[in-house]
Amino acid sequence: VIFQNSEEGSKEIAREISNLVRTKQQKEENCVLGLATGSSPLKIYEELIRMHREEDLSFSNVVFFNLDEYFPIDPDDSQSYHHFMAENLFKYIDVKEENIHIPDGNISYEELHDYCNNYENRIQKLGGIDFQLLGIGRSGHIGFNEPGSHLNSQTRIITLDHITRSDAISAFTSLEKVPRKAITMGINTILQAKRIVLMAWGRNKAKIVKKAIEGEISSNIPATYLQHHQNTTVVLDKAASSEL
Ligand code: GLP
Repeated sequence: VIFQNSEEGSKEIAREISNLVRTKQQKEENCVLGLATGSSPLKIYEELIRMHREEDLSFSNVVFFNLDEYFPIDPDDSQSYHHFMAENLFKYIDVKEENIHIPDGNISYEELHDYCNNYENRIQKLGGIDFQLLGIGRSGHIGFNEPGSHLNSQTRIITLDHITRSDAISAFTSLEKVPRKAITMGINTILQAKRIVLMAWGRNKAKIVKKAIEGEISSNIPATYLQHHQNTTVVLDKAASSEL
């Protein structure tokens, strides 16, 4: 779906999320939301906060699972995704602390394997992800599933691609400070979501968007795996769709 600009696209995505949350509330069910970080979802989070304030939208029945986190990183670090989610969404809404799940970038190497399995199990125990929001990196990653990621991959540690690390320089001030690894939900974790929306805004994403949508399905561009999924919508602004 192509919108004139990212404001309109973001509002539409926020509307879909809020409708889902309210529908689940009426049925007295949990709603499991998979969320993303980066600049792309910011306007969606602003709109959800506005709906919480002005339209009585409650998140008390929502269980959140974030896609990824840098590794190693302290959750209190200003560049951590823990910090990002708190500052851009969680501190403004009525989310219960126990319903927030973000991979822990502070876990020891020894605990990592069990920790990642447990992340998967917690999603499954809740009946899977109802709605997964995705951005796309210029390497073609979704979450932090970099080129080479396997279709069957699950939550795990991954080495970040050079393009991804260089795109993060502005946040970390220099390449040396950008973590070399991350914990990410796998491709399989993502593809099990009942509904997926991938968003991309701006000219900078146009080339990778074309490859993701029109290219052959390949581990070289992990976002192409979404072509396997039965209920995925790609939401773009004009600029991001300009190479299609
Ligand atoms: C990071 C995140 C991804 C995100 C991507 C794009 O690498 N791990 O989940 O989709 O950046 O970021 P942006 O939205 O800032 O372009």
